[in-house]
Order: sequence, then C-alpha cells, then structure tokens
Amino acid sequence: MTGSLEPFDLASLITAHDEGNYAEAVVPPIFQTSLFTFSDYDDMIASYRGEKVRPIYTRGLNPTVRMFEEMLAKLEAAEDALGFASGMSAISSAVLSFVEPGDRIVAVNHVYPDAFRLFGTILKRMKVEVTYVDGRDEEAVARALPGAKLFYMESPTSWVMEAHDVGALAALARRHGVVSMIDNSWASPYFQQPLTLGVDLVIHSASKYLGGHSDVVAGVVAGSKVLIGRIKAEAYPYLGGKLSPFDAWLLIRGMRTLPLRMKAHEAAAMTIAKRLQDLDVVEMVCHPGLSNRLPAGLNGTSGLFSFIFREGVDIRAFADHLRLFKLGVSWGGHESLIVPGEVVLQQKAQPNSAQTFGISARSVRLHVGLEGTEALWSDIEAAISAAS
Ligand SMILES: Cc1ncc(COP(=O)(O)O)c(C=O)c1O
Repeated sequence: MTGSLEPFDLASLITAHDEGNYAEAVVPPIFQTSLFTFSDYDDMIASYRGEKVRPIYTRGLNPTVRMFEEMLAKLEAAEDALGFASGMSAISSAVLSFVEPGDRIVAVNHVYPDAFRLFGTILKRMKVEVTYVDGRDEEAVARALPGAKLFYMESPTSWVMEAHDVGALAALARRHGVVSMIDNSWASPYFQQPLTLGVDLVIHSASKYLGGHSDVVAGVVAGSKVLIGRIKAEAYPYLGGKLSPFDAWLLIRGMRTLPLRMKAHEAAAMTIAKRLQDLDVVEMVCHPGLSNRLPAGLNGTSGLFSFIFREGVDIRAFADHLRLFKLGVSWGGHESLIVPGEVVLQQKAQPNSAQTFGISARSVRLHVGLEGTEALWSDIEAAISAAS
C-alpha cells in the first residue's frame, strides 16, 4: 500500500515559489514583519477601499503565510486556504463561522479531544447542540443529518483509528444541505484529499505531518473561495489566531518532504503493526491498514496507530523501558512516541472524549517515526519482555 505521487506534483511542491523574485534564492525569505507601509496617500486610500489587495498588517495578510496557504491549497485540491496559529484555532474559527445559537452540529464519535471539549463547553454555552454518531454507520449518519448546520468528521480518528467512507458521508451531508468539514491530520493530503471526495472544508493540525519536524504548532483550513471567504471575513481577523510568518516558513520547509516522510511512516508503522498483531501479549491492533481494504479515497496509512495489550502486561514497565519511543503527546514529527490509554483516561479536563466514547485502559498509542523500523521493533520487543 503506497501512496502515489499523483495527483501530487512533487516538482512544484519542491520549487513552490518564484525564485526569480528573491535573487534566485532556493529558500524563500521570511516576511517577519507586523506591518507594510504605503507609498503615498492614494496608495493607502486605495487599500482601505479594497481596490488593491496587498499586505497591510500581518494579522490580515502576510506573504510568507500566503505562500504556505497557496501550497497547502494545491495539495488539498482547494481553491483557497487559511493558515492559523494552531489546529484548534483552525477548528474553532471554521466551526464558529458556520453556526449560531439554536443550530445543531453532527459529529463523528472519537473526534480529537479538544474539539470534543470545544463542542461541550463554548458551543454548549452558545446553545449549539452536538449530536454524535458512529461514522461507520451511514444509516445513523443519514438519520442525524436532517436539520443540522454542520457535519464534523475526522477520519481516520486519532486513537481508535476508525476510518470512514468519507465520500459516502460527504454525499449524505450534501443531500441534506449540511456543510461538511473533516479533520484530515492523520492521513495528510498525501494519502487523502477530502475535497476531491465531496467534503466542503478540510482542516489540519499542521503541527503534525505538514510540519513534520515537531517544531511548529499551526493549523490550516482549505476549501472553496466562498466558504474560506466566510471564515476570512470574521472569525479569522476577529478571533485573530494568525499563523506567524516564521511558522509558515517552517511549514513550507516541512511540506517539501511530505511525500517522502509519509511513505517512510507508512512502511515502518505497517511492519510494526503486523508484528504486534502476531504477539500473544497483544489482544488487538487498531490500524486501518490491517483491514481487508481501506475506505475509498484513503490511499495509504500514516505512522499513528494503537494496540491493546492482553491482561497481565505491566504498561508502566513497558512505557518506562522504551528508549526510542518517548512518552509524549502529539505526533507527525520525525520521532517515535507513545501514549498509554490509562493515562489519557485520567485526564482531569472535562468533558473527556476517551471516557465518553470509551477507550481501553490497556491500549497504547504509538507514533512510528523515522528512526528505522528494525531499531524501533527491537525497542518494542525489549520493552515487552520487561513488562510481561
Ligand atoms: C487529530 C487532531 N486534530 C487536531 C489537533 C489540534 O491541533 P493543534 O495541537 O495544532 O492545535 C490535534 C492535536 O494533537 C490532533 O491530534
């Protein structure tokens, strides 16, 4: 199962800026500035009247951020994209642009925990109701959609790795006149391009695979000019979660190697998932690549998956014995990480999606990084023998 470079144009990803504009520099400059001055009074008034689109103040428009947005729009086959200071800023700004008091959102189970908390706190206070459905059950989704304003998807999800038929769910939303949105962070645009499957808006925590080096927290939303225009008009400037020029520059750097990294994450994680599945101490492995076939439109798998130990394995000893896999949240960078489910279940912040939807206290989430499959597997084997 390998992703194809099509419809990726790797060459344009690598030379994503017009080098001729910047003294033939192979890396674009960073416009690390908060404001841009006007040449004269007429120039200023033309900009204020909207007769000229040009950067005025970085919260509105910054050339480095715009370069990232254009690159990402291309990767997601979108007309436009908007960068944000975090994935959560992208999620909250996008969601808040499409709902008002009295509205209802339909969301799939197991959405990212802070999206779940956003829905259960701020949106609840705004009198926006959220109905949760099993995204694998198209009839349940069809029953929930009538009258909803927004359909919020995440596929595959980021703990139990549920993979949905995104095209079929998007078609249902469209039939009911509901705007559909998906968190595509797990697959990245390299393995899944939801807009081509009929979804209206795609969101990323760019802190994950788009950045790829664990040195940026950022987010992005992509879609049609009309829908992005709606987010751009209010939530983007007024909530103000602007992506910084330096972080946009790091994302541009990271995205150039996205296809290469995704293929390496896929191969290593798939090998480790299959080997775990064969162990007596493992009850179940949650990895979409282990099922008979991936849902249509999901063209490969990433480095994030979870598995459940059988009773009797000391998960604390397993975690503490690992050397290459570090205990740490987030994922999508070069490094391998592990999060035990029993820790997540004890998180104090409420509401807690792991408690609500139920994850196993014997589950462990792995992010398989780029250190090398055999070294990572030896690390796991040694930790398992210390723990069982
Ligand atoms: C699936 C998923 N979506 C969204 C987010 C939120 O992104 P950020 O941390 O960039 O705000 C995360 C972060 O871990 C995530 O895992």
